[in-house]
Amino acid sequence: MMRIMRSLIFSLHLLIPIPAAEISVPVVAAPGSNITLSCSFPRSETDQLVNLIVVWVYGDEVVHSYYKAIDNLQEQSPAYRGRTQLSPDQLAVGDASLRLTGVRASDHGKYTCDVANEQGRSKKQIILAVAVTRCACSGAKKTTPVCKLWYQHTTVKHGSLHEPS
Ligand SMILES: *[C@@H]1O[C@H](CO)[C@@H](O)[C@H](O)[C@H]1NC(C)=O
Repeated sequence: MMRIMRSLIFSLHLLIPIPAAEISVPVVAAPGSNITLSCSFPRSETDQLVNLIVVWVYGDEVVHSYYKAIDNLQEQSPAYRGRTQLSPDQLAVGDASLRLTGVRASDHGKYTCDVANEQGRSKKQIILAVAVTRCACSGAKKTTPVCKLWYQHTTVKHGSLHEPS
């Protein structure tokens, strides 16, 4: 009886649909590369840039912040100093995408783009997966190392390595 219950619970569990919002396809980046984390927000033609607040956050660290129509980096985490950029032209059209240069292994994780403007507040989360190189020796003599980039998907419990597509 217990076994049946257990397998029933297990089957039901498999049938529970995962809400679309929780399926987060990570942005995969190789160490040392430059990437853009995208974030668009609702805006109206009459919105003033001076009333826009954009804060990119990683854990409790400020990655980049923009308000009063300029970058305000006093609170920026030293880990991101000189490596982040928002485009003022893009901000004016509802795009707060963040350019991050010189990607490091420690950048791996979840980012939040938090925007407030005359339309209200909107938040978007992005997973950045920093790929690592894994080498394996193959072939008859097992002497030729074959290296591939892999990344750990942080949204999967216990983590699992995926080959970037
Ligand atoms: C990343 O961007 C910086 C500054 O814009 C540039 O100097 C560098 O060559 C770029 N690196 C790569 C790997 O594209």
